[in-house]
Amino acid sequence: MSFPTPAQLRKLENLAKKAAGRAYAPYSQFRVGAAVLTASDEQFVGCNVENASFGLCNCAERTAISHAIVSSKRPIRLKCVVIYTPTKTATTPCGACRQVIHEFGPDARVISVCDSKNRIDVSIETLLPGAFGPGDLI
Ligand code: THU
Repeated sequence: MSFPTPAQLRKLENLAKKAAGRAYAPYSQFRVGAAVLTASDEQFVGCNVENASFGLCNCAERTAISHAIVSSKRPIRLKCVVIYTPTKTATTPCGACRQVIHEFGPDARVISVCDSKNRIDVSIETLLPGAFGPGDLI
């Protein structure tokens, strides 16, 4: 598992919380923010972006990863993904986001924070054991 520095972690948490303020969530009113740290120590943010066609809603984590892919100077290898939800207890990424996190960071650390001191800090391997990934394609 990858370990950001304490200063990087504080920054990622602040960025994720701030990004939630940019969420487009008129249907769920559930405003989520995410911040990712790449192996080249770049940070990118994302928020959830909903749609009147509900199945097209995009989670904050996947928005942040797409942001990293389009904006980073280097190919993406995720060191850490931080998710902020406006809840009393921390929540983990949905299944789709776990798969996408694994694609770009098979040894990434996933940290969930919320409006209390409660937090979840685990590896993507813990969240998605035995994942199917790029290496499985011949
Ligand atoms: N959502 C996220 O952005 N990330 C998560 O980890 C959980 C769910 C969003 C999707 C949808 O816009 C809203 O939260 C309610 O599910």
